[in-house]
Amino acid sequence: MMRRLFFIGTGLFWLALVALAVMAWLAQPAPKLPIVEKAHGISLAQVARHASAEDCWMAIHGTVYNLTAYLPEHPTKPSIILPWCGQEATEAYQTKNKGRAHSPRADQELTNFSIGRVE
Ligand code: HEM
Repeated sequence: MMRRLFFIGTGLFWLALVALAVMAWLAQPAPKLPIVEKAHGISLAQVARHASAEDCWMAIHGTVYNLTAYLPEHPTKPSIILPWCGQEATEAYQTKNKGRAHSPRADQELTNFSIGRVE
């Protein structure tokens, strides 16, 4: 009788342990990946395919940024920034088209939109 109880107890213990392990595994949060993070570089030809207000990528300082969501936030009229969608825009970003660099705040903002390195 005791022997049976012992085996049932041990069985239930392991069952509970396995169930807990499975639950812990299932409860793991899905890894948070940026929408289009690429393992290898993104070519400028690929960047060039995203050249509109609805889908705007730029290459700046060797990093590719998806700036679609940022365009409406940019503090100028759209015609200043839109022509740079799909482009290598390092110089435009560095000079704001007229010789002045963006502020550290702008540099910080930019990092939010990085999707990969230029290949
Ligand atoms: C690449 C093309 C771009 C051009 C030609 C451009 C041009 C300009 C211009 C003309 C101004 C307003 C005038 C001034 O403050 O001196 C400005 C301001 C600003 N831009 Fe851009 N911009 C570009 C991209 C970006 C990007 C990608 C970001 C950030 C994600 C950004 C963030 C800002 C911010 C935060 C300001 C306010 C002033 C500052 O903090 O420097 N811009 N930009």
